[in-house]
Amino acid sequence: MTAERRVHIKSFGCQMNVYDSHRLADTLAPAGFSETSRPEDADLIVLNTCHIREKAEEKVFSELGRMRVIKEAAAIAGRRVTIAVAGCVAQAQGREIVRRAPAVDIVVGSQNYYRLPALLARAERDCSVVETDFPVEDKFDNLSPPSWAAIRARGVSAFVTVQEGCDKFCTFCVVPYTRGAEASRPAANILAETKHLAQAGVREITLLGQNVNAYDGEAPDGRRWGLARLLARISEIPRVARVRYATSHPRDMDASLIAAHRDLPKLMAFLHLPVQSGSDRILSRMKRRHTRANYLDTIGRLRAARPDMAFSSDFIVGFPGESEDDFEATLSLVDEVGFAGAFSFKYSARPGTPSAEMPDQIDEATKSERLYRLQAAIDRNAAAFNARCLGRTFDVLFEKPGRHAGQIVGRSPYLQPVQVMAAHSLIGQVAAVTITEVSSNSMFGAIARETRAAGD
Ligand code: SAH
Ligand code: SF4
Ligand code: F3S
Repeated sequence: MTAERRVHIKSFGCQMNVYDSHRLADTLAPAGFSETSRPEDADLIVLNTCHIREKAEEKVFSELGRMRVIKEAAAIAGRRVTIAVAGCVAQAQGREIVRRAPAVDIVVGSQNYYRLPALLARAERDCSVVETDFPVEDKFDNLSPPSWAAIRARGVSAFVTVQEGCDKFCTFCVVPYTRGAEASRPAANILAETKHLAQAGVREITLLGQNVNAYDGEAPDGRRWGLARLLARISEIPRVARVRYATSHPRDMDASLIAAHRDLPKLMAFLHLPVQSGSDRILSRMKRRHTRANYLDTIGRLRAARPDMAFSSDFIVGFPGESEDDFEATLSLVDEVGFAGAFSFKYSARPGTPSAEMPDQIDEATKSERLYRLQAAIDRNAAAFNARCLGRTFDVLFEKPGRHAGQIVGRSPYLQPVQVMAAHSLIGQVAAVTITEVSSNSMFGAIARETRAAGD
């Protein structure tokens, strides 16, 4: 065992980026690294970066400025600090990062992070190490730690990556370039990781993929499973009380997956289904491969399968060529679906994507004004959804102590945080809660009856 060292890891991206950060920490633990939330205390600083919008990328370079100061201060005190840039900016920019930020010692792409311990040893000899080739071996052999015991549970809810990469090539998006082609992890691998997490106290599993519902993995019997089959098997694992999946593409919501929402009680009645725009003209320019009508039809079929189903989404405003009429179609879609929540973004032209070359780019002021109006519509719908929860009774999975003494906080099926006066012993359990108060940013409830958690 090597001497005790500390690593500070900061995630800048999506849920998969967070999952990768956790696995990075698990990979470094056998090399003697424990985690610290303070970069000043770290021997190794890892920035796990996101390339999705220009702002996300800028954040990395400003953070690198701060980290350089910390590194220089440590050097004066005679302590060596190594700075590594991992993730999607690393994948997209490679050596360019070291040119712009010479304090960086290691650049490791989104597919190579499992190699960080080896790269660390090399960085101590060479001046900088850049590794961003997509591995030729099966990426999931690499991304899976050698032993399930290496994966550490962090609380009652955990992500499990089942699929990586994207073949859709929406015209605005960098993900197919930073994460490579779609690949599905073998089901046996996923089931083993999930069982391990469940034994370690995890009660809720979120299966992750950039296009998770395009999952097409090798089954233990050598056949192939889609996501619906995988969800059914995950549901059978003892102590797993809740199952979710993210992020889905509307086009891959097939009949078997919709039926899974009807048939699997542990599958939560909540789905994040990014639509991006409510205008068919813009959806076609985005190459989204679905229309407004397709999307609404899918929502309708999911609601028919599971009447308490609620939805969230992602939207982009100011895509090249978006007219006021196109934008109003997006606003009307928000009201038509009645989303429980949504993320909305100003279009960001990303180098190398087809839409960055489109001639009719929208000016910043129009983007800002549309974002403001869209967020108002989303907030209005979210508030209405929360108000409709008043008086309802649903299961809450308790996660941690609440804000005030005697309170604990958990999540509803719709991911809303719910504060309840109840014993700490309920943390890690599911109980039925009646919602007694809804304010603009909190929800309060009372235990309706103590339930034995599903899966016990
Ligand atoms: N795989 C998911 C989304 C991945 S990226 C899907 O198919 O929808 C997460 C979100 O970032 C996207 O849903 C989109 O709303 C937003 N996004 C992606 N590229 C963007 C860009 N160039 N500008 C602004 N927002 C973008
Ligand atoms: Fe990006 Fe489109 Fe792939 Fe989602 S489906 S990751 S938006 S290219
Ligand atoms: Fe960002 Fe990469 Fe995720 S670009 S959104 S961290 S896949």
